[in-house]
Amino acid sequence: MAEENKSSLDALSALCKRRGFIYHSSEIYGGMPGFWDYGPLGCELKQNVKQAWWQFTVRGREDVAGLDATIIMHPKIWKASGHLDTFADPMTMCKDCKKLMRSDQVKDIYADQKKKPQPKIAGSDFFCPYCGGELTEPKPFNLMFKTVVGPIDDPSNVAYLRPETAQAIFAQFQNVLATSRQSVPFGIAQMGKSFRNEVTPRNYTFRSREFEQMELEFFIRPDEAVEILHGHVVTLADNPDLDGPVQDDWGWEVWHKYWVEQRKKFLNAVGLPTERFVEYWQKPDELAHYARACVDIEYDFPFGRQELEGIAARSDFDLSQHQKWSGESQMVFDDPLKQSAKKLDEAARKAFIEKVQADWTSRGKDAAAAEKFCLDLFDGKYVPHVIEPSAGVDRLMLALLCEAYEEEKLVDDKGKEDVRTVLHFSPKVAPIKVAIFPLIKKDEAQDKLAREIFTKLQKKVNVMWDVSGAIGRRYRRQDEAGTPWCITVDAQSVEDGTFTVRERDSMKQTRMTYGEFLDMLYTALEF
Ligand code: GLY
Repeated sequence: MAEENKSSLDALSALCKRRGFIYHSSEIYGGMPGFWDYGPLGCELKQNVKQAWWQFTVRGREDVAGLDATIIMHPKIWKASGHLDTFADPMTMCKDCKKLMRSDQVKDIYADQKKKPQPKIAGSDFFCPYCGGELTEPKPFNLMFKTVVGPIDDPSNVAYLRPETAQAIFAQFQNVLATSRQSVPFGIAQMGKSFRNEVTPRNYTFRSREFEQMELEFFIRPDEAVEILHGHVVTLADNPDLDGPVQDDWGWEVWHKYWVEQRKKFLNAVGLPTERFVEYWQKPDELAHYARACVDIEYDFPFGRQELEGIAARSDFDLSQHQKWSGESQMVFDDPLKQSAKKLDEAARKAFIEKVQADWTSRGKDAAAAEKFCLDLFDGKYVPHVIEPSAGVDRLMLALLCEAYEEEKLVDDKGKEDVRTVLHFSPKVAPIKVAIFPLIKKDEAQDKLAREIFTKLQKKVNVMWDVSGAIGRRYRRQDEAGTPWCITVDAQSVEDGTFTVRERDSMKQTRMTYGEFLDMLYTALEF
């Protein structure tokens, strides 16, 4: 980590503590590694990030429905999803100081401490970065937090805190389908807490043990169903228009790329310019076993380039696993598909089955299963495939804080230099939207009018009242909180009802009426 970047993270975390964005959890008892609390400004920022995501992903679309499921679910869910067997990090322990660490992060711990990794020795990659002792062989460590449901502490009552919100969406797929008036293609979205017992939580709030996710599972037809319906499947080679309305003949590749573009639009809308993140397409050997493609959107945090969110094409893996483990069908009935299939004669059906069999067997799958899949398709039935855009609230908040933070050098008319600390948040996520000040606190008419404006705006957005100190100091306090506008009520306001609006980034002041200000505010907050 470059020294300059490290100091910018130190300065940012000091601001976050001082201004009430982020605190250590349980701080008075010494804190808990990997657990963080959001203070008054932090929890407003968090609410805004989540609301923005919900508006963009659910309410702003006709083809996505919401879900709010429990954190603790039937333990079989984690067997079906693969988390019980495979959701593990390689862990190693120092034989001398007994410290535990992820074996794939030993090098990074050396880097954090600005030490050179000690040379390889038999049985482990490096010596302990803390004391120089010998490290044990890496062993897989499952990241799920265990708990016991009910009063009897018995293995049969063991349950897990969810390590991702996604699985509840799969487990409730049929209920949402039956009750939401949606049909494939459509999505189910969920936001909420997830828990991972990270061996070494690192990098401020980036990798925490308790965190919040915003996940969308967008269910699509298998390409073979699209082929029956339309006689063709649109692929990326067809150069489809991803900015226009979604199309019924898109194949999975196009849906996947469409959601990558949607996520980038969202990140732009909440204040991360496209040039500040990188789209990383995972290579075939990096993909999880269920994934056909996965794109990581990465951001240059002060501690290095890290994944902000991932967009994975997960095929029908999850619903098929839940079908297998629960014994409950996860198929949908697609009447337009059945009607299209009816138009295929015997020869066309035979040719279709042979084509699918050739494709499946070339990917190491079973020919008999391919035939059964085709016969189900002719009946209008299939297990939907899924595209999953999965984002972390806390990671996005940290990226927005890093992006917004500036120690800006200012020079006044007389050439005097000064530095102001400012958070350049987008108004859409800024914790406080407007601060309202009477210019002269003791002026009764100014105070009364300012209070009236404050009370009216308070019913619409989060506002702040401040009468203490010189006006310049009040502006600086709001700059540090990232407040986009400050309204100052002065002598002219009492005469004609107008007030000055000071814009945070340009520091320019414009005189406006209340109506003009509201128009500007609503336009800035709209998605
Ligand atoms: N559902 C994907 C993840 O939690 O990473």
